[in-house]
Amino acid sequence: MHSTTTKSWKSRGVIECYREFLPVSSATPIISLGEGNTPLIYSARLSERVGSGCDVFVKNEGVNPTGSFKDRGMTVAVSKAIERGTKALICASTGNTSASAAAYAARAGISCVVILPAGKIATGKLLQAFVYGAKIIAIDGNFDDALRIVRELSATGDFTIVNSINPDRIAGQKTVAFEIIDELGDAPDFHLLPVGNAGNITAYWAGYREYLAGERSTKLPSMIGFQAIGAAPIFYDRIIEKPETIASAIRIGNPASWKQARAAIVESQGSINVVSDEEILAAQQWLAKYEGIFVEPASAASIAGFFKCCDSSDSSCSFHEIPEGSRIVCTVTGHGLKDPDVIIRQLSELKPVAATANDVRRAIEL
Ligand code: F0G
Repeated sequence: MHSTTTKSWKSRGVIECYREFLPVSSATPIISLGEGNTPLIYSARLSERVGSGCDVFVKNEGVNPTGSFKDRGMTVAVSKAIERGTKALICASTGNTSASAAAYAARAGISCVVILPAGKIATGKLLQAFVYGAKIIAIDGNFDDALRIVRELSATGDFTIVNSINPDRIAGQKTVAFEIIDELGDAPDFHLLPVGNAGNITAYWAGYREYLAGERSTKLPSMIGFQAIGAAPIFYDRIIEKPETIASAIRIGNPASWKQARAAIVESQGSINVVSDEEILAAQQWLAKYEGIFVEPASAASIAGFFKCCDSSDSSCSFHEIPEGSRIVCTVTGHGLKDPDVIIRQLSELKPVAATANDVRRAIEL
């Protein structure tokens, strides 16, 4: 079992960094893969795009151990589960939660069951759950059906749910707000992020409020969430029975943290908006080509949303009258290599040239 506790090597990870803000004690075995401490990347191009002397940063959560922000919450959820004597984890997922749960379960030496919508999981994420040794069950239904089933199964007490309805997940994920404040010296003025099951926006808001209460920051950002147009229950204020979007990670019609997301948006004087699949894919390509940051489609929703705010005069989503010198953070949530299928379709077949410097020079000049 969890060999991590047998020797006390000092390691990185969000529990080590932010222990005093997390529900852990000296009795909690720490199950970590060194998550967190992700790059906050200043973007001169995005800053120029919004103008008014604003500074724009991209928080790249795709460089966490399993390639998504889920690892921040998973280290806390799995550490607490082990402390309570859990033998098995369970989760519903659009892919990233299952990859993360499977990895942390492997690290802890316990089993993990993941319930996924059949045919709707990006290839890389499915491979991750498989290679980490999770029991994978594909259902003939969507994420919302999977979450309903997981809730029913966990009622027996045989499993610990590690979806974001588990408060330990939210506790871990709020550390991202701490990192941003620690690095910038204060909270940003606007925070843009993709919204699916709405756990992450809930966690950010909790983190920002907690640091303000502890006088580690002087203000709160406006939280601006983006859903895909075909999977936008919070924006339309109704359950979407058959959500559809290329951004499979946020293909969710009935978010578990709907109420908390609403509260975050209202309390922060923020907003919830939508972006189309075309805007998402264009933003994904832009970020890769002009900033060298390759993210999966769902992640690009925050960048697509940023462009929308720059271009739109609709007051719920516009930077036209943004205060001079505002700071904007856009979170990108998952690594691009998780979901290669969309990009592979755009890749033309590579025809080899003869293996001489001359032939290669000619090919470069073409
Ligand atoms: N971005 C990515 C890459 C995600 O995987 C998710 C959610 C979100 C954004 C939205 O975050 O749900 O907290 O609002 N993925 C979950 C999963 C649902 O199962 O991996 P949220």
